[in-house]
Amino acid sequence: MIMREVAVVGVGLSKFGERWDAGLKELMAEAGVAAIEDAHISSNDVEMLFGGTMASGRFMGQEHIAALMSDQLGFKNVPAVRIENACASGGSALRLGYISVASGIHDIVVVGGVEKMTDVTSAEAGTALGGAGDQEWELFQGITFPGLYAMMAKRHMYEYGTTEEQLASVAVKNHDNAYKNRYAQFHKKISVQDVLDSKMVSDPLKLLDCSPISDGAAALVLAPLEVAKKYNDTPIRILASEQASDTLRLAERDSLSGIKATSIAAQKAYKHARITARDIDIAEVHDCFTIAEVMAMEDLGFYQKGKAAKAIADGETALNGKISVNTSGGLKGCGHPVGATGVKQAVEVVWQLRGDAADRQVKGADMGLTHNVGGSGATAVVHVFARAD
Ligand code: COA
Repeated sequence: MIMREVAVVGVGLSKFGERWDAGLKELMAEAGVAAIEDAHISSNDVEMLFGGTMASGRFMGQEHIAALMSDQLGFKNVPAVRIENACASGGSALRLGYISVASGIHDIVVVGGVEKMTDVTSAEAGTALGGAGDQEWELFQGITFPGLYAMMAKRHMYEYGTTEEQLASVAVKNHDNAYKNRYAQFHKKISVQDVLDSKMVSDPLKLLDCSPISDGAAALVLAPLEVAKKYNDTPIRILASEQASDTLRLAERDSLSGIKATSIAAQKAYKHARITARDIDIAEVHDCFTIAEVMAMEDLGFYQKGKAAKAIADGETALNGKISVNTSGGLKGCGHPVGATGVKQAVEVVWQLRGDAADRQVKGADMGLTHNVGGSGATAVVHVFARAD
């Protein structure tokens, strides 16, 4: 099958956080206009829009999000489709944008992601997020997402001796990175002791082991690689776009101490890109809870099973470490507006590979990876990016 190579030619982000000053439309406009300007295109150039959102109906009473994005960004009559894949909605929207350019059907495609979660109570947000799990077997029985990941953490601790201090070090690192990111929700450095002393949410996960409830939007412009330089001096190639699924319910998984869909998507992505995990310089991984980053580092092949937690605590994944992970601050520090997260991860990797990441720039970053998970691992989407020159 002949497929075209695809590049990112424009990126944009809204400020993440509790955005009382902005509705869904303003968030979309902040990110979308920035991406269009960055790509030096006009709204008339856009041929297709994929818009990721998980639960804007539950959070805001607003469905029909992709057409709203298109309307808000002034795209006249372009086809626009909403992509819902739980917390992996953004990554899945990017994958469909990639496929539509690679296939030759469209040239200029906009991928957006948005969620505004803070207009409901934390309890209502928790119930809406619970819909990413198995409603009948999990949510209806009273489990929450912190509860599901807490069970995975307990199993990881049992199998590999992972400690609460090691989990806390993930949050410390990601708050350090977020401190340097003006788009991030939190600009507050924390210590391991702060994490250990924060209130218990679901044993062993405490408040500071959890990603927050957030508002935010992100956008990308995609184009065929062969014409990408027409739009941007530093286009970033998408070397691979892969995705895998698994059972929604934890109870029927092969293992609770890892996410199989991540391993499968990553192996397919490395094969497609003709690289190994060792070639990756920077990664934005799905740290919805601290244990999720530990499992991701292992499932993506950066560390053997049981070895990542110590490596993170030892600083190997800090900025300019052996591999720089979640330089944006991750979901933990930058925020997790669920439908926007997968797109935001790609925006951060593009900034890093272009050399535009300001205070948090990783030296010599040539190849990057994004890893976006839906639910407790029923969906995993992995993208690999590289500089085009
Ligand atoms: N990290 C750091 N600080 C947080 C935080 C987090 N995850 N969540 C809340 N805070 C802070 C708030 O900013 C607030 O600070 P302030 O008092 O200085 O203003 C304080 O803690 C209390 O916030 P509140 O909104 O009342 O917390 P909460 O107890 O209602 O909610 C959680 C906390 C952890 C339950 C909520 O953030 C949560 O559900 N997170 C997980 C989200 C999730 O499951 N996402 C999908 C993953 S798959």
